[in-house]
Amino acid sequence: MSRVRTQVGIIGAGPAGLLLSHLLHLEGIDSVVLEARSRVYVERRVRAGVVEQPTADLLREVGLADRMDREGLPHHGFSLRFDREDHRIPITELTGSTITVYGQQEIVKDLIAARLAAGGDIRFEVSGVAVHDVETDRPRITFDGGELECDVVAGCDGFHGVSRGAIPDTVLRTFEQVYPFAWLGLLAKAEPSHEELIYTSHERGFALHSMRSPEVTRLYLQVEPDERIEDWSDDRIWDELHLRLETDDGFELQEGPVIEKGITPMRGFVAEPMRHGRLFLAGDAAHIVPPTGAKGMNLAIADVLVLSRALSALLNRGETDLVESYSDTCLRRVWRAQGFSNHMTTMLHRTPGAEDYHHRLQLSQLRYTATSSAAATSLAENYVGLPF
Ligand code: FAD
Ligand code: PHB
Repeated sequence: MSRVRTQVGIIGAGPAGLLLSHLLHLEGIDSVVLEARSRVYVERRVRAGVVEQPTADLLREVGLADRMDREGLPHHGFSLRFDREDHRIPITELTGSTITVYGQQEIVKDLIAARLAAGGDIRFEVSGVAVHDVETDRPRITFDGGELECDVVAGCDGFHGVSRGAIPDTVLRTFEQVYPFAWLGLLAKAEPSHEELIYTSHERGFALHSMRSPEVTRLYLQVEPDERIEDWSDDRIWDELHLRLETDDGFELQEGPVIEKGITPMRGFVAEPMRHGRLFLAGDAAHIVPPTGAKGMNLAIADVLVLSRALSALLNRGETDLVESYSDTCLRRVWRAQGFSNHMTTMLHRTPGAEDYHHRLQLSQLRYTATSSAAATSLAENYVGLPF
C-alpha cells in the first residue's frame, strides 16, 4: 500500500477540485487530486456552458484562459422567447458585463493540462475513497491501494461523492427542492440557429437554444422527471424542439447529426455547514442548483477561490479567520444563486398539473421582465454573476 503525505487532499477532478489544486499551487501549497473516473471520461462529460464574467476574469488572472479567449464565444445578451416572439435582455448594456459560452469540459481539459505541465499529482480511476479523522489536524483519505495523510481534505466530489457523508448527521443540515421535471440535453453538429441563447417558455414546456462553437449547437427540452433517454429518438427530439421554438417571424432551427444526448434531473440542494473540522466541501458536493440560471459551475469556482485564500492563510501564515468564515462566505453566494435559479426555473417551466392561474402569472412575470428596465437589470445582474 502506498502512503503519501500532502498538504491538501482533494477528492474529485471536476472544475472545483482541479481549479483548487491550481490555485493552491500558485500559493505554494501542494495537493493530490483523487478522481474516480478516467481522464478521458472527465474530459468528455458534457455539462455547463456559460462562464460568468467574474469566473472568466479569475481564469484570466490565474493563467488559464488562453484557449477560452481564443475559442470561447462572448455574449452581450440573450432572449426570453414567449408568445412566439423574442424579447432580448441586453446584459452588457444593462450591467457592463459579458458572459462567455465555453464548455465545462474544455475548462476541465485546460485545467488538467495546466496541472500536469506544472508537475501536479492527479490520480484517475481511484476507487474506494473514504475520509477519516477530519476532527483532528491530521485528516486522512484512504483508497484502494493507498492512503493520503493531509493537513486538510477538500471534498470536491460532486453531489454523489463521499465527502459530505463524512460530516456527522448531528452537524449537517440539508435543504432540498426536487422539481417535477427534468432536462433532456442534446449536442448536435449543427450551426447555431441564432447568435445568442434563447430561453423559451412554451405551453408544451421549456426549451433552450445554446451553443458550443460556430459548428456545434446545444439544445435542451423540459421533459417528465422519470423519462428515459431510450424513448427519445433523435427525430422525436427535433420534432419537439421545432414545436417549442417556433416563432411568428420565421425562426429556423438548424438540424444536424446528434453527438450526445442525456437526461438530468432538476433539484435545488444546499448542505450546511460547508466545513467540518479540517474537511471543506466545495461545488456540487455542497450544493446543486437547477441549471436554468447557468450557475452550477460558476458557484463551484467561486467556492474554491474562497477556499484557496482560506487555506493559504491557514497553511502559509497559521491564521484561522478565513477558514472559520469559509462556510458563511460561500453560503451567502450559494443562496443568492439558489434564489435566482429557482426564479428562472419557475418563470420558464410548465409545472405538470398546475392551474391556469399559475401560467397567467408566469406570462405576466415574463412580460414584466421584458418591458421593465428595473426587472431586466435585476435579471441581467444575477445572470452575469456577482463580483467575488
Ligand atoms: P463535478 O463536476 O461533479 O466533479 C466531481 C468529480 O468528483 C467528478 O469528476 C466525479 O467523477 C468525482 N467523484 C465523485 N465521487 C468520487 C469519489 N467517491 N472518489 C473520487 N472522485 C469522485 N450546470 C450548468 O450551469 N449548466 C448545465 O447545463 C449543467 N448540466 C449538468 C448536467 C449534469 C448531468 C450534472 C451532474 C450537472 C450539470 N450542471 C450544469 C452543473 C455543473 O456541471 C456542476 O455544477 C459542476 O460540474 C460542479 O463542479 P464540481 O467540480 O463541484 O463537481
Ligand atoms: C449550456 O449551454 O449548456 C447552458 C446554457 C445556459 C443554461 C444552461 C446550460 O442556463
